[in-house]
Amino acid sequence: MPTPEEKKTFVRRKFSSISQSYDLINSLVSFRVDRYWRWVTTRELRAFPDGPVLDLCAGTLPLSLELTRQAKGRRVLAIDFCEDMLRAGVANLPQDGRRGRITPVCGDGEEIPAQDNSFWGCTVAFGVRNLSRVERGLSEMRRVLKPGGKLLILEFSRPDNLLVKPLYFFYLNTILPAVAGLVSGDKEAYQYLASSIAQFYEPGALLAMMREAGFARAYCRRLTFGIVTIYVGVK
Ligand SMILES: C[S@@+](CC[C@H](N)C(=O)[O-])C[C@H]1O[C@@H](n2cnc3c(N)ncnc32)[C@H](O)[C@@H]1O
Repeated sequence: MPTPEEKKTFVRRKFSSISQSYDLINSLVSFRVDRYWRWVTTRELRAFPDGPVLDLCAGTLPLSLELTRQAKGRRVLAIDFCEDMLRAGVANLPQDGRRGRITPVCGDGEEIPAQDNSFWGCTVAFGVRNLSRVERGLSEMRRVLKPGGKLLILEFSRPDNLLVKPLYFFYLNTILPAVAGLVSGDKEAYQYLASSIAQFYEPGALLAMMREAGFARAYCRRLTFGIVTIYVGVK
């Protein structure tokens, strides 16, 4: 078992290595369904059209872009600890009003560089699974949310449909690392993706951790046969 610091170093290095091809590979291997998942997640924040919203583990900024697309006045602080991912995202930001409403900051999700009670929303898309200490991250997310603010986690889960499950795991363990490894030049990064999905908490366990961290009205919603799950909680 790696220590939390070893996991951090590994994760940062792997995302740095795939940063230039990350968006392309996401679209390829998810058949663009990832855009739908981020759209559904963002819709959960329609009560807070102006923000400010924290997009944690923001990577190349796809969710920050959707957050600013769905609400024209919304401001987003986009935090990630891998500078290369943020730089790749900034380089591809469209030349429209959204550019000025997204502020990228290099920082650790387990020690969020923001004041208490700052945000009406906190989103984490495909990031919680990569944290070294999930409890610590959840506690930090709660700290920086305003009372009444909403946490939204979009994360991979495991389908349980008897037909879908074997096909999905064959795809995840065999086809995806081969294709994504070829395009990115880093097969290990996508083998890590598959193993981290296989080892991640069951939705009920993550919900229990959210409640333990102090989130009220916590519930989750499975999408696309349970390939991903959206978790919602309120401070
Ligand atoms: C799979 S990417 C997700 C990017 C983006 N949110 C999306 O929707 O595609 C996960 C991101 O989490 C970041 N990350 C992992 N652990 C982190 C931590 N402790 N603090 C900040 N960012 C972290 C990685 O650098 C990576 O960019």
